[in-house]
Amino acid sequence: MSVQWAGLSPELLLTVDREGGEQLHAQLERQLREAIRTGRLRSGERLPSSRELARALGLSRGLVQDCYAQLQAEGYLVTRVGSATRVAPCAQVPPEPAAPLVPRPRLLADFRHGVPDLASFPLTDWLWATREAARTMPTADLDYGDPRGSLPLREVVAGYLRRVRSAAADPGRTVVCSGYAQGLALTMQALAASGTRVVAYEDPGGPGTASAAAEAAGLTAVPVPVDEHGIDVAALAATGAGAVIVTPAHQWPTGVLLAPARRHALIAWAVRHDAYVIEDDYDAEFRYDREPVGSLQGLAADRVVSIGTVSKSLAPALRIGWLLCPPALLAPLSELKRIADRGTPTLDQLALARLIESGRYDRHLRRMRTLYCTRRTALRTALAEHAPAVRLTGLAAGFHAVAHLPAGTDEREVITAARARSVGLYGMSACRASHAVEPPQLVLGFGDVTERAIGEGISAVGDLLGGGAAGP
Ligand SMILES: Cc1ncc(COP(=O)(O)O)c(C=O)c1O
Repeated sequence: MSVQWAGLSPELLLTVDREGGEQLHAQLERQLREAIRTGRLRSGERLPSSRELARALGLSRGLVQDCYAQLQAEGYLVTRVGSATRVAPCAQVPPEPAAPLVPRPRLLADFRHGVPDLASFPLTDWLWATREAARTMPTADLDYGDPRGSLPLREVVAGYLRRVRSAAADPGRTVVCSGYAQGLALTMQALAASGTRVVAYEDPGGPGTASAAAEAAGLTAVPVPVDEHGIDVAALAATGAGAVIVTPAHQWPTGVLLAPARRHALIAWAVRHDAYVIEDDYDAEFRYDREPVGSLQGLAADRVVSIGTVSKSLAPALRIGWLLCPPALLAPLSELKRIADRGTPTLDQLALARLIESGRYDRHLRRMRTLYCTRRTALRTALAEHAPAVRLTGLAAGFHAVAHLPAGTDEREVITAARARSVGLYGMSACRASHAVEPPQLVLGFGDVTERAIGEGISAVGDLLGGGAAGP
């Protein structure tokens, strides 16, 4: 589809050579033909008016009009009275279309994980916050700023994390980044530069997130098993890793909470080995039926890099997150952020600061907790009714759960058969370092699935999941 340029006369880069022997009108015709044939100008695109093009190239308007008339006669251009000159519809071989993004299929229910309820994004509040930010932003804030991010957001985020996560957060040691993904990538680069060679990550985890970031920075990534108390710290110690990436508040994807003894063992490991714990403060905002746990970073601010994001609390598209940096990593992380992109967009940072500071963020989180709690109940109820042999775990926080399928079920067959019934299911095997399909488990995301879709989706696949009697 061609772009419909608005405005008086779209610009077009053409050049004329007055020194060479080729006549000016021939040069212009040749360049326009070439631009159309090669697809620089697409069918239906507007050309500049003859007056504007003549002015831009220092030619007479008559010469440009003659040139347009010639190309029209050759079928390259079309002109209608009272309308702009455009590239003719069939003037070019259509270019190879860019490989299309695979469109998300329309499913009865898609239990994909990691996505919040997008329809609940607080658009009115975000518009208010953006407007407020733009209205009150000093002109100087339009300049390149501190690579750590804008001070108002760092102050608000640090205050917020001290309050709700019991973090030892200091605005001076907070670096705003483009979501968890960038925070993790920068941390891996900083560790690699400081001599770390091996980074451990939770297994199951990912798929790919932690190990891919470590390997992209030239580090060796080693999986460490997670049990019902969280990461196995004894197994971690045996890896010789200089850092470990963990999700203590709600382990991704098993949903277990890092047990208090393990939290302390993990910090002791980091102190003993002069190592770092990278805390993905994943799903900390959404807790339902257990006491809140504070961030690990609050226990050892010099050993823990804590990474937060608004991808789950607001929307992934905002691409805003933050790093709470140990003193020794602050300068390298700030410098790496500067090199990466010179800072996260300031207006968005200021808008987020206003959103949090005004209490609108807390209000949104309260609403979302209620919504996810309802969906969680809907999932439990639907499974109890249609697949009683399935056991659900990992539901204490967040918006995903682990469905344990009856022994002997083929996880991949279930996923394929469910897809044929228009239900998106996702297996735990993709999150295991070994890709093992045993024990058969599904990771069911319910953040962006309505209550109704949960009911209909589970009812459609109940017999595949374990429609028989309740399991042990
Ligand atoms: C384990 C984990 N942590 C955090 C995130 C959030 O990443 P980001 O902030 O880059 O959107 C994701 C996204 O899928 C994730 O899988």
